[in-house]
Amino acid sequence: MNTSRRKFMRNAGLSLGAVSMLDFSLFAGQNEAGMQPKTLQDFDSEADYWEWIRQSYTVSSNITNLNNGGVSPQPKVVQDVFEQYNRMCNEGPSYYMWRILDKGREAVRQNLADLAGCLPEEIAIQRNATEALDTIIFGLNLEKGDEVIVTNYDYPNMRNAWLQREKRDGIKLIWISIPLGVEDDDALVKLFTDAITSKTKIIHITHIINWTGQILPAKKIAAKAHEKNIEIVLDAAHSFAHLDFSFKDLDCDYAGTSLHKWLCAPFGTGMLYIKKEKIAAIWPIFPTDKPDSAEIKKFEALGTRSFPAEMAVGRAISFHNSIGIKRKSERLKFLQQYWVNKVKDHPKIKFYTPLGAGSCAIATVGIEGLQASEIENKLFEKRGIHTVSIIWEGVNGIRVTPHVYTNTNDLDSLVEGLLEIAG
Ligand SMILES: Cc1ncc(COP(=O)(O)O)c(C=O)c1O
Repeated sequence: MNTSRRKFMRNAGLSLGAVSMLDFSLFAGQNEAGMQPKTLQDFDSEADYWEWIRQSYTVSSNITNLNNGGVSPQPKVVQDVFEQYNRMCNEGPSYYMWRILDKGREAVRQNLADLAGCLPEEIAIQRNATEALDTIIFGLNLEKGDEVIVTNYDYPNMRNAWLQREKRDGIKLIWISIPLGVEDDDALVKLFTDAITSKTKIIHITHIINWTGQILPAKKIAAKAHEKNIEIVLDAAHSFAHLDFSFKDLDCDYAGTSLHKWLCAPFGTGMLYIKKEKIAAIWPIFPTDKPDSAEIKKFEALGTRSFPAEMAVGRAISFHNSIGIKRKSERLKFLQQYWVNKVKDHPKIKFYTPLGAGSCAIATVGIEGLQASEIENKLFEKRGIHTVSIIWEGVNGIRVTPHVYTNTNDLDSLVEGLLEIAG
């Protein structure tokens, strides 16, 4: 056998060996061979089911994590798949990352699209919500004098991106102030529509406001905006895999989300959505040779990033699907109401979150006479409960965000702690 033939055989064997080592179904988010996801029907009671979900995470006995809104932990199966891919990549990074793991990209994209309720051709895999939303904010063709409606409760990274465009390109930001505690959808829609002028091109909507957990009526605002040919950028960082909705139904033009919050995918994963017919007009931040192409993949020319994290997203999706968005969304709301109802009548306790029908997992609570950081510190020092202080635009409280692995004992401890601090 000549040298080049021998070399070819060796390479072919290597690729076959590598491919057969990998269970490709994992990319599509399916389970390891022989492991079926459990469902509620497999348990005697709903409480048993949620306890099993809790056991699926590596919950710490050192701290009670009630800041899942910041970033969420991954179920053990996701950690395992991530570590498996990571170890494999460390045996030959460029080979296993670019030639093997990357084969899973389209399956992950398809699964994300199914979850988001859109086409796979409309989804780009990103590293976080900031990257996805900045891609839109900096990629839009806007001219001097064009107006963009933003609010006092948009996330700082997004505010800063719009502010930079204002400084650099002369677009005009129209700021609206959302009063705390408004529950009336029509009043909220009116706040946005009253700010529209003939120059308005974009409305930026933070679907769930991170400071307070308030849900904005994004679909209703989008409908009004589209009547005037105004486009919607949706910050779905807190709504994706938390609320039961689809991008198509909501009818946003562009959206960005993290996957390491409510989907519990590996840290440093996110997703960009752009309506198919609008892709060509958005400039990528990291261009390919065809920056004006109509292909969503032009937004994935990021250079080297964590392929193990991206590919383990498939496993996070299958875990999420085994619960189902409807059940998950209801459970998250139940957990919020469980603790809120036990403290809300205390005269010194004040909520910054609308607590009516439209609420979700997130709630922000303050105690009269105390700074948010004092409440946060007391809960952590005495009970190991981790929350986050929010001081922003009239809010002075701690944000509490349980997740599917949180149980009522965790929340009972929070309730006792809050009542103790409030006196
Ligand atoms: C509303 C909102 N948008 C965007 C982001 C940014 O998310 P990431 O850190 O994944 O970029 C956050 C993060 O908390 C957020 O709360």
